[in-house]
Formats: sequence, structure tokens, C-alpha cells
Amino acid sequence: MKYPSILFVILASWLGFSCNNSKSEEVKKDDVTDYVNDPHSYAKPNTAVVTHLNWDAEVNFDSERIRAVAEWEIKAKDEAKEIIFDTYGLNINKVMVDGEAVDFKLGSFKEELGRPLSIPLSEGAKTVSITYETTDSARALQWLDPEQTAGKEIPFLFTQSQAILARSWIPTQDSPGIRFTYDARVKVPSNMMALMSAENPQSKNTSGEYTFSMPQPIPSYLMALSAGDVVFKSISERTGVYAEPSLLDTSVYEFQDLENMVQAAEGLYGPYAWGQYDIIVLPPSFPFGGMENPRLTFATPTILAGDRSLVSLVAHELAHSWSGNLVTNATWDDFWLNEGFTVYFEHRIMEEVYGRDYSEMLASLTRDELQEAAAEMMKEIPEDTKLKLNLEGRNPDEGVTSIPYNKGYFFLRLIEEEVGRERFDEFLKNYFQENKFKVMTTEGFIDYLMANLLTEEQANRLQIKEWIYEPGLPDNLPVVESDRFAKVDEAQKKILEKNLYPASGVAEAWTTHEWLHFINHLPKDISQEKLAQLDAAYGFTQSGNSEILAAWFQPTIRNNYEPVYPRVESFLIQVGRRKFLTPTYRALLESDKEEMAMDIYEKARPNYHAVSRETMDDLLGYEEEGEESNPA
Ligand code: BES
Ligand code: ZN
Repeated sequence: MKYPSILFVILASWLGFSCNNSKSEEVKKDDVTDYVNDPHSYAKPNTAVVTHLNWDAEVNFDSERIRAVAEWEIKAKDEAKEIIFDTYGLNINKVMVDGEAVDFKLGSFKEELGRPLSIPLSEGAKTVSITYETTDSARALQWLDPEQTAGKEIPFLFTQSQAILARSWIPTQDSPGIRFTYDARVKVPSNMMALMSAENPQSKNTSGEYTFSMPQPIPSYLMALSAGDVVFKSISERTGVYAEPSLLDTSVYEFQDLENMVQAAEGLYGPYAWGQYDIIVLPPSFPFGGMENPRLTFATPTILAGDRSLVSLVAHELAHSWSGNLVTNATWDDFWLNEGFTVYFEHRIMEEVYGRDYSEMLASLTRDELQEAAAEMMKEIPEDTKLKLNLEGRNPDEGVTSIPYNKGYFFLRLIEEEVGRERFDEFLKNYFQENKFKVMTTEGFIDYLMANLLTEEQANRLQIKEWIYEPGLPDNLPVVESDRFAKVDEAQKKILEKNLYPASGVAEAWTTHEWLHFINHLPKDISQEKLAQLDAAYGFTQSGNSEILAAWFQPTIRNNYEPVYPRVESFLIQVGRRKFLTPTYRALLESDKEEMAMDIYEKARPNYHAVSRETMDDLLGYEEEGEESNPA
């Protein structure tokens, strides 16, 4: 071991590194990777790190608790004295190292981060086994009453681990840079099927006991579990859909293009690495549109539009199978590497499957959204409009804005436009291939970009550094020209000026995206009379399309169009998807309807997952009665 490390020091000083950090010299290059520092995890993976999890769990719907043993296989340096896990509100009952009970220590509680669990290690320790139980403060878990499901008879449980909530249901080293494989045995009530981000069952058994295996290493934010009355139907040999029985056929119809999407993705950036690709349609309180849990995307039912018009979300989650799940952001400050790449890839899949004029509509909507969000954020926290974030000391959830997604997208599109599609695709394909199952920092990506694609002159001209490290939108933001939207603009003029309803023979053929553009581009001040006319002609308030409805809430709420209020209320009570909640509650607040917002929120809040609840509590200045349930 001596020679390699001496060699390393010599090499390093020759290359001009300063070697004043004695810690890093101790690291054996061949058996512990250089993990980057993650301010959102207590783990010290350069000393002792997990490699595999055997998870044995029982899911109890009466007590709303998971009791489990997490047996971790670990890799530690010889001199490692302890291994540190992240926990949040877990009751730790017992810890064993290589089968021997040990004294563990739970450190002090920090907001967002929870407590570090330190476990003493003897030399050569191989496994750490933690017996524990979740508590009411398990922020990842949402336990649903039967009334909150489609079937109304059987309860439901799902998890949402990203960004740092895995630690609230598994003691883990909860940093995106730390990967492990896992096996699991999960017991659920016998009328339910359990599913994980792993090889999954396709039918219920009578015992309620299921086993899982995830042979590819994943970070803990991709740990996922759901349990409920779900059934499976395949779409192709390697793709399929899970949903509650009453939603299965609708879901299969909606996602009919799944296999085509996987093939399109593979054609672009290389083989799908995870075997099976399925989607589970969750109850409407799911706080996101989708979550890219490996092998099993978790999805909101609000994308079941009936006409397949909202499936770009599926393309998005599928794209994460490369950007995010294969090549993973090193820390949440590098989140744009996950999401910006994924939005880019999503648009490319959509273009392959549905054509350029379709994907350019998506790009145009994305651009509008970005410009609006960036303008708002420049007034509040301009720092957060940088691609590379600094979230230390904050909830990483605060980095989930339009910036990593859409500024990230346009940054990549800018590079594509500079070097041409062929070279860019070649570059991306290699990027995924060479970095699969690894982590990526923003700086690592810039190095890779400069080594493989751009000249200094190009990088300077494109203002690469400015894009990544400066706030705001650079002056070379790519332009999107959508012919289909140009036609919408034309028609809208006529419709508004000349009172032509319904759509003067044009709008009959419009798809969801044209309608979204139409609604988003209505004048800010629009009369209630006009809104009523539009509503009568196009039936927006009654729309079964969640995106159209949520878009329609903006001009109507802000211009006090009362007929929409009951629909706003029922929507906010039924749906827990944060992307819809935030703008809708905000519109209520910003148009002097605080009381209405609060009344609705009181009724709706119990239906929301913790992730949405926390955001809405902040937005509405809501304080729960009595003591906050702090796991400290
Ligand atoms: N991985 C995200 C969801 C996420 C991000 C959860 C950060 C927690 C923290 C997922 O892939 C996503 O981006 N979902 C979007 C989909 C959309 C951009 C197509 C959503 O939920 O709206
Ligand atoms: Zn995403």
C-alpha cells in the first residue's frame, strides 16, 4: 500500500496539486473512492461506506409504522473507528456489528438533516445491522386512508425519498454520491401488493410477503416502496403499468407508447441499463408529477388525460434512467445535472416519437416558464438562478425550481446548436457510457465538456461560465420557434378582438399544448365577461385535463372570475401535486383571497404528502395547532 500512495503524492505534486491535506493522503485509492463532501449528509464515506443493503421489513397500517432490520454490508478503512448513518425521526432499537450488539450514538437533531447515527467499528468489520421503527415524523411516507384511493376500500402507502427523505424510513448514508445494491423482504397486509425500485412481482400473492432485488447500485434517494391494491398489465415484454384495478385500463391506454419511448431513448443514448421499465399510477396526493425510481417510475394520476397528451412526463422519468440514475448528481448543488439533462433528453424522446413540431411546442412552453420563473426569482433570491447552487444549511428542496430544469435544458440546447446535433449526440452517448453508475459534479462535467467537445474559444463565446456560475439568463438563451404556436397567437388575436367563438374553425384541432399556450398568453387583465365567454366556448372550467385546468386557474383567480372557485376548491382538495398547488394558492394570495386560500387549505392539508405540506405551510404562513411534531 505504501508505494501507490507515495506515487500518488509525487504525481499529485508534479501535477501541481497542493498536498497539505494529510487526510486525503490516507485514503487508499484502490478501495475507497474519493467521495465529494455533501453538506446534506452526516456520512463520512471516505472512512466507512455502505455497499449493500438487506432490508427486512414489516409494514403496519394500523400503527402507520414500518418495523425493519436494515443489514448493511460495509467497506471501511482499517483505521475507521465508526460508521455514520443519516436518520430522521427513527426509533433505533438495536445495532449489531458482525453479529455482536454494540453501543451506538444518536447525535443532536438538525432541522432537515435529522440525527447522525454513529456506530463503533472493530477492525475488519463487514456488516452493520440496525433494528428500528419509523415514527410519525417519517417525512418520506404517506399513509393513505381508503377514501384517498380510487378503490376507496383498501389503504395505500407510498414513499418519496428524493431529496433527503430516505433517512426517515431507512437508516442510510443519504447522499446521492453513495451507491449500494439491495435485497429486501417486505411484509404487507395480504390484500396488498408491495412494490419497490427493484425487480418487482407482477401479481398478488396470498401471504403479503414479497421479496425484491436491485442488482445495480443506486443512491438512497432512489429507494422506494409502495403498498396497496394494485394490479399489473404489461405493455411490451419489458414495460408495463401498475395501477389500482379501476384505473388499470385507462392507464394502459394512456401509456401505450411506453415501449416506443424506451426504444427512442436507447436509439439516442445507449442501452437501457435496468432491465424492466414500469410505471405505477399512484393516488392523487402523490406530491410530484413523477419520480424516477429505478425500474418503477412513480406517477401522479393527473397525467391520465384520456388522450395521451401529458405523456412527456413519462419521457422525462424514463430519461432519468440515464441522466440521474446512471450518471448521478454528486450533491444537490449539482441538481441541474440530473434535471437539465433530463429535460433535454425528454424533449429529444418526444421529438423521436411525436415529431419536431410537437417537441418544439414543449420547448416553447418550457421557455415561457423559465423566463417567468427567472424574473420572479431575480427579485427574491437571485443566487438561486445559478445552475450550480449553494444549498448548504438549507433544505435541498429549495433548489427544486425551474432553473435546474429549464435553464439547464437551454444550456444544453445552446451547446447542441453550437456543435451540431450529430456531434452533441455522440458526446452525450459517450458521457453516459463512460460515467455510468458514477457521480458527476458540475466541475467534472465542465472538464469533460472541455476535453471532449468545446474549444476555449467556443466556451468563452457561449459564456459557459456565466451560464453556470452567474445568476439570471444570459443574452444567448436559445430561441424557440413553434409554427403551431404562431398559429395559436394569430387565432387568439381574432378570438379576443373580434369575439369569434368557438374557435373560428381553427381551435377544433388544437391539442393540450396549444390550449396551454393559448391560456398562458391571455392578457394579464382580462374581464370576467371575456373569461365567461371563453369558458362557455371551450369549457375550461370543466376540463378533465389537469394541466389545462391548472393553467386556467391563473387568469381566472387573478381576475376574480367566481364561477371557477368551486372547481379550484375541489381540485386543491383532491390533488396533492405540488406543481399545481404552488401557483394556484399563490394566485389566491396575490389576488386578495387569503381567507379563501386558508379555508381550502384547512380542508385539503390532511390529504397532502409532507413534501407538499411543508411547501404550502411556508407559502401560506400556516402553523399547525399545538406543538410541531419535531423528532428532536
Ligand atoms: N426527480 C424529480 C422529482 C423530484 C425532484 C422530487 C426533486 C424531489 C426532489 C422528477 O423527475 C421530476 O422532475 N418530476 C417533475 C416532472 C416534470 C418536470 C416532467 C414533476 O414532478 O413535475
Ligand atoms: Zn426529473
